[in-house]
Amino acid sequence: MVVFEVTRKGTTPIDGQKPGTSGLRKKVVVFQQPNYLHNFVQSTFNALTTEKVRGATLVVSGDGRYFSKVAIQIIIKMAAANGVKSVWVGLNGLLSTPAVSCVIRERVGADGSKSTGAFILTASHNPGGPHEDFGIKYNMENGGPAPEAITDKIYENTRTINEYLIAENLPDVDISTIGVTNFTGPEGSYDVEVFDSASDYVKLMKSIFDFASLQKLIASPNFTLCFDALHGVAGAYAKRIFVEELGAKESSLINCIPKEDFGGGHPDPNLTYAKELVFRMGLGKSSTQEEPPEFGAAADGDADRNMILGKRFFVTPSDSVAIIAANAVQSIPYFASGLKGVARSMPTSAALDVVASNLSLKFFEVPTGWKFFGNLMDAGLCSICGEESFGTGSDHIREKDGIWAVLAWLSIIAYKNKENLDGDKLVTVEDIVRQHWAAYGRHYYTRYDYENVDAAGAKELMSYLVDLQSSLPEINNIIKGIRTDVSDIVDANEFEYKDPVDGSVSKHQGIRYLFADGSRLVFRLSGTGSEGATIRLYIEQYEKDSSKISRDSQEALGPLVEVALKLSKMQEFTGRSEPTVIT
Ligand code: G6P
Ligand code: ZN
Repeated sequence: MVVFEVTRKGTTPIDGQKPGTSGLRKKVVVFQQPNYLHNFVQSTFNALTTEKVRGATLVVSGDGRYFSKVAIQIIIKMAAANGVKSVWVGLNGLLSTPAVSCVIRERVGADGSKSTGAFILTASHNPGGPHEDFGIKYNMENGGPAPEAITDKIYENTRTINEYLIAENLPDVDISTIGVTNFTGPEGSYDVEVFDSASDYVKLMKSIFDFASLQKLIASPNFTLCFDALHGVAGAYAKRIFVEELGAKESSLINCIPKEDFGGGHPDPNLTYAKELVFRMGLGKSSTQEEPPEFGAAADGDADRNMILGKRFFVTPSDSVAIIAANAVQSIPYFASGLKGVARSMPTSAALDVVASNLSLKFFEVPTGWKFFGNLMDAGLCSICGEESFGTGSDHIREKDGIWAVLAWLSIIAYKNKENLDGDKLVTVEDIVRQHWAAYGRHYYTRYDYENVDAAGAKELMSYLVDLQSSLPEINNIIKGIRTDVSDIVDANEFEYKDPVDGSVSKHQGIRYLFADGSRLVFRLSGTGSEGATIRLYIEQYEKDSSKISRDSQEALGPLVEVALKLSKMQEFTGRSEPTVIT
């Protein structure tokens, strides 16, 4: 057995290691600088309480992007030197973000041990490869991302760090074979266990959904599906769940072999980047001649985001979470005894609010970032939540969950068709959404993203908008000069959130303009970009009148879009006449 030694290596702080909305994300070349990863990992160990490090079991894995394999070996050596007892690694270093959350919460090691945290190696939906992004984030014992108190401490530590601990003579561990490798160090035994990436997660999904009814749906001659993993880690789970467990054809899966560079693409499930799926579903410009499948879905690089499509039909993420919440109790066994509450992020449309009020459910509006849902879930206040940024999930784990969202939708389709599977025509995704709008009203919604704009210009735009908020009459004057067919602004503010569980306050969470008819404009700077700044503009309009719920959304929102762009002087501040992405 290899006996390793602990070396203390001198280092100096490196600027810019502040974790963003979801961990530290930078270009691979930045991570490749000497000590860059080491400093961050040691700063994380130093931010945790001793019992979460010494003698602890940690999970280390991710979406398999370029540099992951190097990073995993470094973290294994640093964990050994810091007194960690065991490290669990998914086969080939692969674990989706939701699977990591599941493993932290559910997996029990051979010796009965449980893990207390994880390093997740991902930059989520950002491209991968030698010239693209890498990322690392730490998740806690509840399976959710480290709270701000910890990430702030990590950042402080990165600014003062002067040494890190590493077991330099520990040989690289073979992570391509399942099994346990044992080592001995100054404090006793240390082991690295490589385990199957999907088993724990598949078991959890089987305890939530009625797989027998999903199998029947998939076997129905009227039902066809297409799932696109965008070359991300979701592929590993899609094959196990959709094909092996539920009986879908292999040909239903596209881009389901995880690649280090995501095939050169942008692994973000939206109408712009999930091109192949969008085309197959008949939504592309030169849409396919073949009859598109009934159901389509995609996930991002680390499989926590999702996009849901019907035949020639796009379900907005804001509608998706509302529809799941409205149908969960009947369609998903896990929720059979009722929902504890529901929550959405601030820029997400108010479709969920209407469901919550009609069903008398507790409702919460939190800032952008999944971590804000975690406290609510830990306190038993929230069962289902979602974000406009293609994130949907529940309290089964503490991350959003792309495959879960697909299974939730399949469950709703199966439920709506339970008497009808062999009939002539199934109730489709589009039918389900239209029925929902008819019952609850429709929230027309769109998001404009201005990616990688000059950071100074973006900041100026934001402060201009905040200054403007001091006088409602002035804003309304400006707006009337732009369009006369939008209603008045009745409130304008920066969103601030007080966590109902721990009382912590998060300020400056987005600039809101609220209109008398329930419409909203929201401006926010992205917290996940790795270069420059990204401005997000969210535009929403509520329509209760069932005769007006079938308009094209870009057309329905046209007047508000014009107001938003002119009011914010978008072109002046950013130099951009068009957004990079519209969803
Ligand atoms: C990550 C987080 C989400 C959040 C999103 C926002 O995906 O996990 O919870 O909604 O980032 O990204 P943005 O770029 O808008 O800050
Ligand atoms: Zn992601």
